[in-house]
Amino acid sequence: MDKKQVAIVGARVSGLLTCKYCIAKGFNPIVFDLEPDIDGVWLKTMKTTRLQAPKALYQFSDFPWPDSVFDHFPTQQQMLQYFHSYAAHFQLMPHIKLQSRVNSISYDTGETFESNGKWNVTVNDIRTGDTKVYIVDFVILCSGRFKDVPNIPEFPVGKDPKIFKGKAIHSMEYAAMDHDKAAAFVKGKKVVVVGFGKTGLDIARECAAINGSEHPCTIVYRRDHWKLPDWAPWGIPFTYLYFNRFSELLVHKPGEGFLLSLLATLLSPLHWGVSKFVENYIKMKLPLAKFNMVPQHSFAKDTRACLICYMPDSDDFFDAVENESIKLKKSTSFNFYENGISVDEDNTRIEAELVIFATGFRGEEKLKNIFDSSTFGHFIAGSPRVPLYRECIHPRIPQLAVIGYSESLSNMYTSEMRAKWVAALLEGAFKLPSVDEMEKDIAKWDEYMKQSSGEYHYRSSIGALEIWYNDQLCKDMGMNRMRKNGPFANLFEPHGPLDYTKP
Ligand SMILES: Cc1cc2nc3c(=O)[nH]c(=O)nc-3n(C[C@H](O)[C@H](O)[C@H](O)COP(=O)(O)OP(=O)(O)OC[C@H]3O[C@@H](n4cnc5c(N)ncnc54)[C@H](O)[C@@H]3O)c2cc1C
Ligand SMILES: NC(=O)c1ccc[n+]([C@@H]2O[C@H](COP(=O)([O-])OP(=O)(O)OC[C@H]3O[C@@H](n4cnc5c(N)ncnc54)[C@H](OP(=O)(O)O)[C@@H]3O)[C@@H](O)[C@H]2O)c1
Repeated sequence: MDKKQVAIVGARVSGLLTCKYCIAKGFNPIVFDLEPDIDGVWLKTMKTTRLQAPKALYQFSDFPWPDSVFDHFPTQQQMLQYFHSYAAHFQLMPHIKLQSRVNSISYDTGETFESNGKWNVTVNDIRTGDTKVYIVDFVILCSGRFKDVPNIPEFPVGKDPKIFKGKAIHSMEYAAMDHDKAAAFVKGKKVVVVGFGKTGLDIARECAAINGSEHPCTIVYRRDHWKLPDWAPWGIPFTYLYFNRFSELLVHKPGEGFLLSLLATLLSPLHWGVSKFVENYIKMKLPLAKFNMVPQHSFAKDTRACLICYMPDSDDFFDAVENESIKLKKSTSFNFYENGISVDEDNTRIEAELVIFATGFRGEEKLKNIFDSSTFGHFIAGSPRVPLYRECIHPRIPQLAVIGYSESLSNMYTSEMRAKWVAALLEGAFKLPSVDEMEKDIAKWDEYMKQSSGEYHYRSSIGALEIWYNDQLCKDMGMNRMRKNGPFANLFEPHGPLDYTKP
């Protein structure tokens, strides 16, 4: 029987991995990316961008970091070099069509994943302007979550960016500038950064380094999140606290049986204790209390929702807050006025010439808009969380998978497991359950995410359950779930990508 023709949208971390695993299973995938190179979110970033997780957790399982990279948290340039070496090593480039934007995909017939129609993939060649339709059996969307479609908060008419005399941009535009241009752009300006995720933090630091306290940069934000000064609280590697099976025994899991549920309930004080242990360490290392930055919620919640922010050179940041090069303004709501931002909470006004929205991205919109069919678009983005079986398959969208949408604390590791799983599914190594069963499973994970991440459940984070999640994928693929030698190692040793190299 002829192998299915597979099209992959996106040629970055997720797309490269998916391409590699499809080739390994004998497919001849065709990969489209609108950019002129294969660097993904890592190409256009702030100067200071480094890997957030230790490199042992963010590496290709069969292509580890070269010995020449000593740093545990590689730089943007090292990341790019690594991706290029991977693509060259596995000869992926002949499969990749760059500067090829997938404008839309449409399916000729069928209403469930199992239908056997064809996808029409309409691709625009950015260089020539020509449009071509590729007819394929299976589409894998690896189009990324933190790029392309900015999330801009909504404001009442008359209090929106239009009224503002200065300039308002999204962090995406700032990151796209080369570093010198970005520095020249903010120099001497009163800047307000909206949002205090990793991007907001990095941009504020850059502004403070350029402008000092003469033109302070103000961060306007809604909620505090835990900042991690290093990956070894009180000397214990973080991976021993949150990346082993024992840590997962302490929390309730979707689809757990009675015994695991009982154990999680009995051990929940320990889970709370581990969180407090880390929180106390962070509060000892960082002056969060002094600057009113202690989060209202637990460290464990930020871990589950993948909202912790690694802050290696925290002294620079807190020095900048101390000397008022960076000012912090917390408020649940704010608006624009002619000369800046007005903060509703206490009716203060912050003058600004430049407002930078570091408010994240609308990854779900990107997924939704690629479908010609509004029904499929609605299936994907009609609820707060993109509902995917194994975080890859929508049971009612035929012959299509998504990789790289749901988040983890090390997205490369997670995308690799998913790429392996989807390639095995395509090969016929296992069959999917019925639509009804898949929907029930999605509902269980949905419930888990609501419980564990609260208002952030839309992020679809598997932050604290990476191994439990991998277990499901291994079970489907017929791989042994126990990846270490011996029960002690399986229970207590941290798990990472290299544990899943062998079948
Ligand atoms: C600045 C930054 C730093 C990060 N740091 C970390 C980190 O330290 N650790 C971590 O785990 N995660 C990190 N992340 C999350 C990061 O998104 C993932 O780790 C990973 O790089 C995502 O890879 P991806 O291939 O899934 O998506 P992307 O890198 O976003 O790639 C998607 C690709 O699809 C292409 N594409 C999209 N739509 C189309 C279309 N219609 N047609 C053709 N091509 C299309 C895009 O051009 C893009 O190249 C970071 C994200 C950002 C923005
Ligand atoms: N490796 C690195 O150095 C690096 C650098 C940058 C980014 N990243 C990664 O890239 C991803 C994206 O990061 P990001 O910081 O761009 O986005 P993000 O993590 O989604 O954070 C968005 C921020 O904007 C705020 N926000 C969202 N909507 C808002 C609204 N309507 N009004 C006010 N505030 C709003 C959020 O506040 P609330 O918390 O209150 O919702 C949050 O502070 C993350 O995974 C991050 O770890 C990594």
